[in-house]
Amino acid sequence: MELSGKTVLLGLTGGIACYKAAEFARAMIREGATVHVAMTESAQQFITPLTLQALTGNAVFTSSWDSRMANNMPHIDLPRKVDVIAVAPCTANFIAKLAHGICDDLLSTLCQARPAQVPLLVAPAMNVEMWEKPATQRNIQQLIEDGVGIMGPASGFQACGDVGKGRMLEPVELVEEVIAALQPKTMAGKRFLITAGPTFEPIDPVRGITNRSSGKMGYAIARAAWRAGAEVTLVSGPTALAAPYGVKRIDVMSAREMLDAVIASLPGQDVFISVAAVADWRVKQVSDQKIKKVAGQSTPTLEFVENPDILATVAKRPDAPYCVGFAAESENLKAYAEAKRKKKGVPLLVGNIGHETFGKDDNTLILFDANGAFELPHDTKQNLAYKLIDQLAARL
Ligand code: C5P
Repeated sequence: MELSGKTVLLGLTGGIACYKAAEFARAMIREGATVHVAMTESAQQFITPLTLQALTGNAVFTSSWDSRMANNMPHIDLPRKVDVIAVAPCTANFIAKLAHGICDDLLSTLCQARPAQVPLLVAPAMNVEMWEKPATQRNIQQLIEDGVGIMGPASGFQACGDVGKGRMLEPVELVEEVIAALQPKTMAGKRFLITAGPTFEPIDPVRGITNRSSGKMGYAIARAAWRAGAEVTLVSGPTALAAPYGVKRIDVMSAREMLDAVIASLPGQDVFISVAAVADWRVKQVSDQKIKKVAGQSTPTLEFVENPDILATVAKRPDAPYCVGFAAESENLKAYAEAKRKKKGVPLLVGNIGHETFGKDDNTLILFDANGAFELPHDTKQNLAYKLIDQLAARL
């Protein structure tokens, strides 16, 4: 659970997207968060405080004058006890108030009264014309300059019937934004290129050779890098996983397609992490037609040729980013991994302990660099990904 131990203040302002705020609150609670809610008067036209009280298990605040607070100062006490404030939906009016420091209700006042270390995130939700008006755009620019996080908005079909920008992000996307806002931005301004998953080497139009890589480790690293502030491109072989939020995913099948996608994406990258289980060989003659089983004929024999080594190819280039390799060995991990690090010419090689990691949600990693070996003890792949990003931050 990514929000365990975190307390979020969810602010609702008056937009039809209030109906999605209930699900947003639930989604944060599912991630372990404690959620407190403050609503403007207009928000209560769209959804009742009762709904949010029942969902969050906490009293909902709607007024600056609230005798449930011993000192009757909810605008001071509420922001002091939270880790982050997320206003979703956030109207054009509320954006304008934040941009100009207007404090004329509880929510606007508590945003202004928040301690410096409490991040403020807003999820704009409005008609496309309102979003595009110069006044709104000026106010958004002001909020960005003031360090407020802007979540979305998305484009698409709007409640008013228009199509365009101004839709509130979906609850699952808002949760991703909140999780990311609470991560240290150790990779801000960095660009990461990551490969993940297996490759699929065709035999004929319906058959092929692949491996048991699930892509989970590579996807977890891509997610952790984005949450740490990096711009992330993920070149992925066929997996059953959804693209991590915020990450640009390029889908490929074979090792050669993966190499082409990696080379095309390489300019400007700071880090290349090769997590994919790339097939060492491909079938020499791929049949155009399905190979038929004919009674009485012998079984087909497949001849293989070597695939390009993507990691070694990238590491050799004069414009090579900082390169990280992965190694899955079934024996002698230390000896093989160190030899592999040197052979591939990379500063850091990450060893998986054994093949039992395939498809699992947890793992143990050993990092090999010029100074020797360093273990990241058994943990979930997502936690190991955060630790690997910390290690990279120290090395870059
Ligand atoms: O040589 P081996 O497959 O054991 O090396 C593993 C590392 O090299 C991984 O980082 C993997 O992504 C990368 N690799 C590659 N291209 C290949 C084979 C492996 O980039 N053809």
